[in-house]
Amino acid sequence: MPFVNEKTFQRYLQEGREDDFHKLVDEGLKRVEEQLGQEYPILLSDKEIKTTSKLVVKTPIDTSLTLGVFQRDNGDNLRNAIKIAKEAHQEWKDSDWRDRVELTVKAANELRRMKYELAATITFENGKNRFEAVAEVDETIDYFNYYAQLLEDNRGYIKEMEGRIIKGEKGISVMRPYGAWLIISPFNFPLAITATMTLGALITGNTAVVKPSSDTPLSAYKLVTTLRRVGFPVDTVSYVTSPGEVVSKVMMESLDIAGFAFTGSRDVGHNLLKEFVSLKPRPAVLELGGKNATVVTSKADLRKAVEGTFRGAFGFGGQKCSATSRVFVESQVYPEFLNRFKARVETTVIGDPRSKNTFLGPLINKGAVDKFRRFVDQALSEGGRIITGGRVREDSKSYLVEPTTVVDLPYTSSLWRTELFVPIVLIKEVQNLKEAIKLVNDVDYGLTAGIFSNDEEEVEYFFRNVEAGTVYANRESGSTTGAMPGVQPFGGWKDSGWTGRNAGGPYYLLSFMREQARTTYD
Ligand code: SER
Repeated sequence: MPFVNEKTFQRYLQEGREDDFHKLVDEGLKRVEEQLGQEYPILLSDKEIKTTSKLVVKTPIDTSLTLGVFQRDNGDNLRNAIKIAKEAHQEWKDSDWRDRVELTVKAANELRRMKYELAATITFENGKNRFEAVAEVDETIDYFNYYAQLLEDNRGYIKEMEGRIIKGEKGISVMRPYGAWLIISPFNFPLAITATMTLGALITGNTAVVKPSSDTPLSAYKLVTTLRRVGFPVDTVSYVTSPGEVVSKVMMESLDIAGFAFTGSRDVGHNLLKEFVSLKPRPAVLELGGKNATVVTSKADLRKAVEGTFRGAFGFGGQKCSATSRVFVESQVYPEFLNRFKARVETTVIGDPRSKNTFLGPLINKGAVDKFRRFVDQALSEGGRIITGGRVREDSKSYLVEPTTVVDLPYTSSLWRTELFVPIVLIKEVQNLKEAIKLVNDVDYGLTAGIFSNDEEEVEYFFRNVEAGTVYANRESGSTTGAMPGVQPFGGWKDSGWTGRNAGGPYYLLSFMREQARTTYD
């Protein structure tokens, strides 16, 4: 079957069944609300393990509610998980790729069946609004179907070679897995990003140990139990909740981890990578931060530019590595863009993401709110002017802050180069596209970038010169954000990534395999 994106909300919208969509989301929320406070074990082989020390996770949408009680591993379980994964690889590496495709498609169907429960889990876990939460489940299902299709299209990455030096010589290139992979996933896409990395390992014949963010361990638990339920052998995929410092310690002493996949901040990723490969050279798949820019030229459709920039900057509170963080606007349209942008931001509905009208829910935790405050203070003290937001909504039960727009910030400010991960966008006037692109590239990161222009030549010039792995023109749904598998392979250049093979794209799975050239003679 050819790959088709899930795009749930778009389908309901097309069919004029928006009410049904909301009903299903509300039912999902109710179901997850009933599960609040449950305890979840570590999953090792066929054992469910409980530790004496616990990790009590609250939901950011109402901090008086406990999302769940998780285990706090001191390292012993992680070490065991790695051992189990290493042993399991001996058999799994030789599993037929067709069987792995079949399991993957089964998992996709199961995830679809659970769609609204999973979306609600995300909303409770990290505060994502319902549209973005359902889109994240869609993205997850898409990864499964897309990677299954990819393995199928490439016939398991087994390729007969055409050349011959000697009569009777026959060469075959076979892509082979490495072994046990450690998967370290972030809070912002607790299901989709955990899924792309975990499945990347499993479908290519590696085994996986999943270690979710301590802020959001529940989606990953549901993912792992789903994989096991549809038939991935228990030993091929474990679930361990270890604090970050335990993980880095275990990683640095273990030669049994064949590779690791990490999505998170640049500094953490770079440090892990450095130490990991210093023990011995090993592969890693890293998706790191961004300092993504959008350019608005005088030839832009301003309505689209405003909407796209607003969504890119403030969707999920800027807590995406793809978030629009800098905006460069050509002087001819600068004043009008600012006016319209300000007006658009002022309509933002901030609040409980369970409500169907909420656009902006809470930040993930108190640390993020403190960071927001610090950046706002810094912007003001360095001469920036705040034209929208800037305040924390004092609400004891949640972490609500306002979408914040800063203008006139001197270019010497470190805020122009620092990934903020909160809803703050910096806007600057530029004289022309050339100057804009110079500024877009003037950061260590190179994840996403966007342009609004109706001039094809401008767009082409932008694409050719911009240093980023995922680039968009005229993306009204979110400027630099919202990549979907099979449509926009997602990944970064420069400090934003490692491998250069984007998630949800045609080359992603190659990062989890190494080539074996097999030669035989008649
Ligand atoms: N894939 C997400 C996006 O494009 C970010 O991880 O927004």
